[in-house]
Amino acid sequence: MPAVTFRSFITGDEDSVVELWSICGLVRPWNDPRKDIERKLRVQPELFVVAHDGRHVVGTAMSGYDGHRGWIHYFAVHPEQQGLGLGRGLVRDVEQRLGALGCPKIHLNVRSTNAAAADFWRAVGFEPGDSLTFARRLITD
Ligand SMILES: CC(C)(COP(=O)(O)OP(=O)(O)OC[C@H]1O[C@@H](n2cnc3c(N)ncnc32)[C@H](O)[C@@H]1OP(=O)(O)O)[C@@H](O)C(=O)NCCC(=O)NCCS
Repeated sequence: MPAVTFRSFITGDEDSVVELWSICGLVRPWNDPRKDIERKLRVQPELFVVAHDGRHVVGTAMSGYDGHRGWIHYFAVHPEQQGLGLGRGLVRDVEQRLGALGCPKIHLNVRSTNAAAADFWRAVGFEPGDSLTFARRLITD
């Protein structure tokens, strides 16, 4: 795995994080990434984890624990650093953080079109569930 530090997001990371999400195809027209960051910084900001190589943010995992399940969103590794074990290291870091809070299980959503991500999650020990995801938007970005 490349030499990186896993740490919580800090304000100066914002531009590089949004750029990383764009490069990795995680930005959707109906989600404003800067508003998503702003909201996360109000709720368990320490669980918004970035991988930093000393110069740039090269990975992100926006995680949280709702008292029943842990969640991971915006999981990304920079394309130039993919396939080197960084994603696996980032998952393990998040698992430690959530586990330390007593979180018994972690959930996440993978778009049905993202077969590569599904293979990644299987490879790092996650199993697909048989639930449908339902969602209702309360705030329009
Ligand atoms: C998915 C992603 C985070 C994986 O990160 P990564 O650093 O390349 O993953 P790692 O190198 O740690 O790989 C860990 C395991 O997953 C497997 N894996 C990773 N990418 C894979 C792919 N595209 N297809 C199949 N398996 C893959 C690896 O083979 C490895 O398994 P192994 O150790 O048994 O060989 C990265 O490709 C990415 O950012 N993709 C774009 C954004 C995205 O889709 N995010 C997920 C949203 S749910």
